[in-house]
Amino acid sequence: MDERHIAYAERNLPRYTSYPTAPHFTSAVTGAVHAQWLADAGARGDPVSLYLHVPFCRDICWYCGCNTKAARRREPVANYVDTLRAEIALIAAATGRVAVKRIHWGGGTPNILAPADFDAIFAALHDAFDLSARAEHAIEIDPRTLTVAQVETFARHGVTRVSLGVQDFNARVQEAIGRIQPAETVARAAAMLRHAGVRGVSFDLMYGLPHQGVTEARDSARVAAAMAPDRLSVFGYAHVPWFKTRQRLIDPDALPDLHVRNAQADAIAEVLRDAGYLEIGLDHFARADDSLAIAARDGALRRNFQGYVDDDCDTLIGIGASAISSMPQGYAQNSAEVGQWARAVASGVLPVARGYALTQADRTHRDIIERLLCDFEVDLGPYGGRAAFGEAMRALEGPARDGLAVCADDRILIPPEARRLARVVANAFDAHHQHSPARHSRAV
Ligand SMILES: C[S@@+](CC[C@H](N)C(=O)[O-])C[C@H]1O[C@@H](n2cnc3c(N)ncnc32)[C@H](O)[C@@H]1O
Ligand code: SF4
Repeated sequence: MDERHIAYAERNLPRYTSYPTAPHFTSAVTGAVHAQWLADAGARGDPVSLYLHVPFCRDICWYCGCNTKAARRREPVANYVDTLRAEIALIAAATGRVAVKRIHWGGGTPNILAPADFDAIFAALHDAFDLSARAEHAIEIDPRTLTVAQVETFARHGVTRVSLGVQDFNARVQEAIGRIQPAETVARAAAMLRHAGVRGVSFDLMYGLPHQGVTEARDSARVAAAMAPDRLSVFGYAHVPWFKTRQRLIDPDALPDLHVRNAQADAIAEVLRDAGYLEIGLDHFARADDSLAIAARDGALRRNFQGYVDDDCDTLIGIGASAISSMPQGYAQNSAEVGQWARAVASGVLPVARGYALTQADRTHRDIIERLLCDFEVDLGPYGGRAAFGEAMRALEGPARDGLAVCADDRILIPPEARRLARVVANAFDAHHQHSPARHSRAV
């Protein structure tokens, strides 16, 4: 990494899966506000996307930054399924029978649900919405617990894409992160899915893990590429033990430094490029004929809470504890605590805890940040030109001098060698960040 870039890479910056970012959400957005936003979505009649969150896992991995808990018993999961169905009915009461274009299940581990749970939730979705024009149906899966019966259930409900948590194949690294998962487990899961006709298989890989060097990261990428997923997400481990206390189980002295992290990201990218994958945005890779690669080529890539997507719906409705809805009017987040979420639903109220109503200025900044992180360039012309962004342009002077951005007239371009630091450039357009006490993870 260019020496001038080290200080930038050490900055703690948001990942900008929303703008403004979640620490700026407040209780001003209530269930009643969200109900109105949902009614507006129904009145517009455009298709919507759904995100369903399942905040349970069989065991908790020590590095995990997701909102999830261990569930060893059946009861909390069964109760959760009942509440999800009730929440789906509450949402449909506000929207009416809208068409759903995309469904994404995230977690946690959605395959903690039994086939009968999926059937029950699907019946609720079919009762509530028009699912006939569904284009994509994706689910995040833990390969260690995937069963043949689950795979058959996914195929029956038209699942088009499954993403498997892989992280790293090295045994020592796996021991240091509390997740033992031999390569055969991943290969078996991918084979089961393909056999059942689920076409899209994605892998999540990680770098920056304890006891992981450049060699381990490169070897893992090679093993992963040999299994030929059609997409990969490659995440730098975000070590935030002050926020996720489970990460205190990770030995901070065993974590690779910034130089190694950067070399790991380079090594993984090189292996995947050599294997024929295209780099998409900050952290995704896809085969050239994959819909994400096509969206990136056509300037249609989007960024939301799921990362990079080719989703063109303006309304994303989050269902389940902690799920976030993203609507033209703003963001609404459900209570993250399962008990609180379930009590709200039981009393017939949308279980929203907080959110953010966008101003016109926010929308402009959100769009610019999204284009920078998706396309690595933006034209400020349609937004009033650079003169309309005095503060942001001043904040960009230092990064531009150091090679992170090229500002020519109204265009801002992030050169290929600085792309991993795109969040620094995006941050210049974040009118809220300077005032925020929130602590984020490092930029690389
Ligand atoms: C919901 S999990 C994937 C599905 C399933 N729970 C599993 O782990 O197999 C989402 C992904 O987030 C990534 N992730 C989790 N914690 C992270 C952290 N602290 N930093 C960076 N990425 C993380 C991992 O790659 C993980 O596979
Ligand atoms: S990485 Fe996946 S399986 Fe592990 S704790 Fe997080 S959500 Fe659960």
